[in-house]
Amino acid sequence: MGSVKIELRGDLARVMIDNPPVNALGQAVRQGLLQAAVDLAGRAGVKAVVLGCAGRSFVAGADIRELGKPPAEPFLPDVLAAIEAAPVPWVAAIHGTALGGGLEVAMACHGRVAGAQAKLGLPEVTLGIIPGSGGTVRLPRLVPMAEAIALVTLGKPIGAGQALAIGLIDRLTEADVIAAAEALALELVAQGAPHPTLARDLLAGAPIDWAAEEAALRKRSRGAAAPLEALAALRLAAEAPAPEAMAAERARFLRLAASPEAAALRHIFFAERAAGKGLRIDGAVPADLARVGVIGGGTMGAGIATALLLSGSAVHLIERDAAAATAARGRVADTISGSVKRGAISQQQGDAALARLSTGEDYAALADCPLVIEAVFEDMAVKRQVFERLDAVMPADAILATNTSYLDVNVLAAATRDPSRILGLHFFSPAHVMKLLEVVRGDATGSRALATGAALARRLGKVAVVAGVCDGFIGNRVMAAYRRDCEFMLEEGALPQQIDAAMEAFGFAMGIYAVQDMSGLDIAWAQRKARAATRPASERYARIADRLCEAGRLGRKTGKGWYDYAGGSARPDPDVERIILDESARAGRTRRAFSGDEIMARVLRIMQAEGRAILAEGIAESAADIDVVMVTGYGFPRHKGGPMFMAAAG
Ligand code: COA
Ligand code: NAD
Repeated sequence: MGSVKIELRGDLARVMIDNPPVNALGQAVRQGLLQAAVDLAGRAGVKAVVLGCAGRSFVAGADIRELGKPPAEPFLPDVLAAIEAAPVPWVAAIHGTALGGGLEVAMACHGRVAGAQAKLGLPEVTLGIIPGSGGTVRLPRLVPMAEAIALVTLGKPIGAGQALAIGLIDRLTEADVIAAAEALALELVAQGAPHPTLARDLLAGAPIDWAAEEAALRKRSRGAAAPLEALAALRLAAEAPAPEAMAAERARFLRLAASPEAAALRHIFFAERAAGKGLRIDGAVPADLARVGVIGGGTMGAGIATALLLSGSAVHLIERDAAAATAARGRVADTISGSVKRGAISQQQGDAALARLSTGEDYAALADCPLVIEAVFEDMAVKRQVFERLDAVMPADAILATNTSYLDVNVLAAATRDPSRILGLHFFSPAHVMKLLEVVRGDATGSRALATGAALARRLGKVAVVAGVCDGFIGNRVMAAYRRDCEFMLEEGALPQQIDAAMEAFGFAMGIYAVQDMSGLDIAWAQRKARAATRPASERYARIADRLCEAGRLGRKTGKGWYDYAGGSARPDPDVERIILDESARAGRTRRAFSGDEIMARVLRIMQAEGRAILAEGIAESAADIDVVMVTGYGFPRHKGGPMFMAAAG
């Protein structure tokens, strides 16, 4: 039977799935499970069945590679119907993760036991689909509807403790999960004929205001269809007989699996896992990351230090003087206590993380850090000096990284004796939250430095994308290009609030002007000034942003930027409109109206053109990497798959 085996142990049977790496429910596994259900139903001596998995995890879901194709028999709902109808109880023994179809399998069993570290969830909406094998119908028969709504519409897995508390599993064990499942199976045998989940009543719970749920979800989903479809499926499960709800769920699942949204989300799923493959170089041993040095403890340095501390590393942070070091420690402490307050980590974990932080001014204290990351001011002279000082004190095999946004990594590398150990590690703000890490490969960056970038990303739970050296690497370069074109649109007749509204309607979390105000207008201003001398006089250049900066409008931090923040929220500002009209006139433009669609089409066109240039120059390793950067670092709606995916899809 290949990937599914039956082991008989007296009057108990074990059905073991073995389909590395994550026991996905490919056709062969479905076939094997069905066969096992049929075989065991016919065996007189078997009292109960435990369903478990080999390897690192219980079933992690449907085989995503099969999802875009026409389904092949046997279909999972039929396999689960056979398990549920078994004459003897089946108990799922869950270790690792039970996700999507994996959790649906477990829910079709008559009992569920999970290891203490297990994670359970229905992440289908993150792939543009909904559970398609009875998940939305069985789940509210095991857990209260409010919990079912959260699990299915958000797609976020929960831990075994929470799963036990809401009724998703029957037992949690710190010991052997198969043995615990066998114990439960024997108890179920003593209770008589197995009780199918589908035959249970819906759990009584607080009444659900479906309209309010839908309104909140619509806002949160930013145009993605699957979460709303998932909610509709649950509503039907609440209001219709189980067979009707099952049939409707399956129809929705099949329709969604063939949708462009699901194709886009599958693309990003695999693109994230393929990203950074070029960093994993055979034989290259990464630097040890148990102790890492950070230079500069401002917004980024403190964020990077926090991310490292939370990953278990010790951090030594260097600042300019004692007062700045104290301020940096305060920033790290505030961020960590924010994570404790949000419940992301315990107080004890927070205290332990902060205890791993040391600060100072003396570079000599960095000598035992195999990796040092600098995040000082975005100024070449300051950064060069930092690298020269590091070069003088660091052991020859230490890896030295810069978090620069735009500066030339090759020039920094040239300030040191051995440029093979220099690379860019471009984090995004807030660094302990954002998933993206651009690993910038300089001309001379060596394999050990690259392997260290990959190891760091893995340790911090980030997606690493390789970028070559250019102005802005991948993400900031694409952003600079469309930001520039947005300013041309301002000159031609649009207003910042219209461009932001068009981007939000497309699915961006924020428009480009709200983003600029949040992160500050000064770094890009400095970059434009640095380029001014070499900018050809014939090149079109909009001066609107420069005029804002000259007026001291640097974004939220100064109370004003593209918007006015007096009163707390962003309001369009007549002063900004005056500057825009003035610059339109100066540039000799006749202002005209822009529709949201026209704005967004133009933004996309520019993103795609810059993406193609980046690929042609070898700055990015693949078009999919550019999509990963835009989706994980720049708020591009995930369910659209990224600009390059959209270009290829036509
Ligand atoms: N179908 C096909 N392949 C899958 C898969 C699935 N459901 N889940 C994971 N894989 C593959 C990955 O592509 C990766 O392949 P690669 O090594 O060739 O790149 C490999 O399995 C390991 O996955 P990865 O995500 O790198 O491992 P991890 O240990 O970090 O995470 C999971 C494991 C299961 C938590 C994670 O892979 C996951 O969330 N998978 C998707 C689960 C899901 O959404 N299921 C519902 C489907 S409807
Ligand atoms: P910041 O001004 O908040 O912090 C810079 C810190 O560096 C300050 O605390 C300063 O005291 C310290 N510093 C300056 N010179 C130093 C020196 N010689 N030795 C030790 N410490 C020194 O700036 P930031 O926003 O954190 O940016 C830091 C770097 O990160 C820049 O290169 C920037 O381009 C890059 N970056 C910023 C962002 C962002 O969103 N802010 C995102 C990615 C990358």
